[in-house]
Amino acid sequence: MSAPTLPAGEDFAPPSTSGERLFQPVRLGRYDLPHRIVMAPLTRSRARQPGNLPTTLNACYYAQRASAALIISEATQVSMQGQGYAWTPGIHSREQIEGWRLVSDAVHEAGGLIFLQLWHVGRISHPCLQPDGMLPVAPSAIKPSGNAFIENEKGEGELVPFVRPRALQSEEMPYLVRQYERGARNALEAGVDGVEIHAANGYLLDQFIESGTNRRTDDYGGRIQNRARLLMEVTEAVSTIWEPDRVGVRISPLGTFNDMGDADAEATFGYIADRLSDYRLAYLHVINPAAAAVEKRTEPDPGALHMLRLMRERYRSRLILAGGFDHETAEAWLNQGSADLIAFGRKFLANPDLPERFRLRASLNADDASTYYGGGAKGYTDYPSLAQQRGEEPPPCVDDRWR
Ligand SMILES: Cc1cc2nc3c(=O)[nH]c(=O)nc-3n(C[C@H](O)[C@H](O)[C@H](O)COP(=O)(O)O)c2cc1C
Repeated sequence: MSAPTLPAGEDFAPPSTSGERLFQPVRLGRYDLPHRIVMAPLTRSRARQPGNLPTTLNACYYAQRASAALIISEATQVSMQGQGYAWTPGIHSREQIEGWRLVSDAVHEAGGLIFLQLWHVGRISHPCLQPDGMLPVAPSAIKPSGNAFIENEKGEGELVPFVRPRALQSEEMPYLVRQYERGARNALEAGVDGVEIHAANGYLLDQFIESGTNRRTDDYGGRIQNRARLLMEVTEAVSTIWEPDRVGVRISPLGTFNDMGDADAEATFGYIADRLSDYRLAYLHVINPAAAAVEKRTEPDPGALHMLRLMRERYRSRLILAGGFDHETAEAWLNQGSADLIAFGRKFLANPDLPERFRLRASLNADDASTYYGGGAKGYTDYPSLAQQRGEEPPPCVDDRWR
């Protein structure tokens, strides 16, 4: 499997001979990071009910993973309307701010850095997750195929078909921006180190960006300048609360998850990368359209490689790439200049000490997909570190200050 060849330039420097590029320090916005291994955002549906509150258990999970150069939190709804899955945490109530404070304190105590991912799901929801059982909202009233993950009457997780969402009215747009703005302000109060705006994977901002889900005829639909307007307004609003060097944006060009598609993805995402460069953000986080090939170690689709090159050329600052990487492929892709940092999802989920395991070339715990969403400590905080595998006691994860 080959990594894409990219032009030479300051950000495309060859690796030092003194060690692996994955372990070279890097500046990311305001922060000096000791290496380039990022923990990708991972929804785990373990917030306390009622109220979708982060808890000491969540604090423990993140603190265990504090050796990441940067943790990006699970997607966190900015409003009740922004929720699309059972038991995901929010950042719109006082109690949620206090819950996130437990998490940020625990991560900082363990020496880590954490950005909170700001989320509005748009149409990827269900009336039973919405305030007053209302319809989920979207740029256009187009029903996604697939199922929503809800809590049933027995208190268990259940998949139910998506419904046709309600198209947002033009007058509602400022209200959406305010939801993100309030989430950003609350995140600041919760003591995290920055925020990532979730504009990927077919959620609200992506639904506006991509032509397949946006049939609007107002200032938020039609040409790309309009479809990108909400993302730019949100980025601008969030960047007035946080300095831009503590703000990142996540996108998923060519992604098909959640029934997504765009008639001209190159024009769309090229424009977005270009425009976002102007904000001088900490980073752009791209979900690798070649993830499946990277994972299988097969030749990536030329279209995916082309898109990656385009992102690198058009985004003029730090790029994080996520999707399908292991130690070896991450190193190869960094060396090719495809990105500045690599985010790991499932591997970080199952290996709290992933950087150390990479450094020592130790074997990895396998992730258990049956415990991804919902439940408690099992499949969450009980993946052992190398030290535990050697027989050492686990660190006292939760202490009184985090209760
Ligand atoms: C259980 C699970 C939950 C995820 N939750 C989120 C999320 O909350 N926000 C997000 O942007 N991506 C989410 N993703 C996508 C991951 O961040 C990442 O892009 C994906 O897992 C590919 O990386 P990997 O091959 O290293 O696992 C999730 C993925 C998994 C497996």
